[in-house]
Amino acid sequence: MELLVNAVKKIHKLNVCKSSVRYVNSLADSDLKTERDLPLVIGSSQALVQKLGTQVEVRTAFITEEEEVALLLELEPGLKKKRYEFDHWDDAIHGYRETERLTWGEACQGILARVRSVAFASGSSLLGPVHVLDLDKTGYIKPHIDSVKFCGSTITGLSLLSDSVMRLVKEDAHSEWLDLLLPRRSLYILRNQARYDFTHEILKDEDSIFNGQRVPRQRRISVICRNLPA
Ligand code: OGA
Ligand code: MN
Repeated sequence: MELLVNAVKKIHKLNVCKSSVRYVNSLADSDLKTERDLPLVIGSSQALVQKLGTQVEVRTAFITEEEEVALLLELEPGLKKKRYEFDHWDDAIHGYRETERLTWGEACQGILARVRSVAFASGSSLLGPVHVLDLDKTGYIKPHIDSVKFCGSTITGLSLLSDSVMRLVKEDAHSEWLDLLLPRRSLYILRNQARYDFTHEILKDEDSIFNGQRVPRQRRISVICRNLPA
């Protein structure tokens, strides 16, 4: 047990970023009502936000700090063995390492079951392995649409270690866009048009601004579940 506690402390020490903690704390602080009431989704027009409203969801504090640690404890040993990839400029992702995981320890199984139960209709066929993407502080995801061949109508992801901004841009009308604030430990869900007709991207640190407010990017790990094409 002692060993586990020490490992947890180490992970906290290594990865907890002061500014990110401050930011999320401020969201959780009941004195800061205006901050708490900030929207998590903004867009090029209110009509677009409303139209896509049901297809784009951000749920803050979807996991607890303890659950974040449980996920990190399970993921960090495997990730640490890999090098971040920076040099494939044609890749959709820059500054990343990744893995897929089919089987999870007990603590994490429960978290993933909760993710799936809120994001997918019961009985829908899911992509077996969970995708884990570790973005370096300088890493980012360029605009892309996930392969329709391999992935169905819904994409959902947990964000660990850092807040970030996800941008959706309509593929055939670039003036139509949405920005999503993804606080650390939140869950996002993209469905249907939001998944098929809009590119999505994760902004790099220097561009990471939501609704005029700077959102510092640290190392970020996402845990992504997808369903299978119909
Ligand atoms: C992807 C992707 C988003 C995320 O890997 O295709 O868009 O939250 N990831 O990391
Ligand atoms: Mn994607």
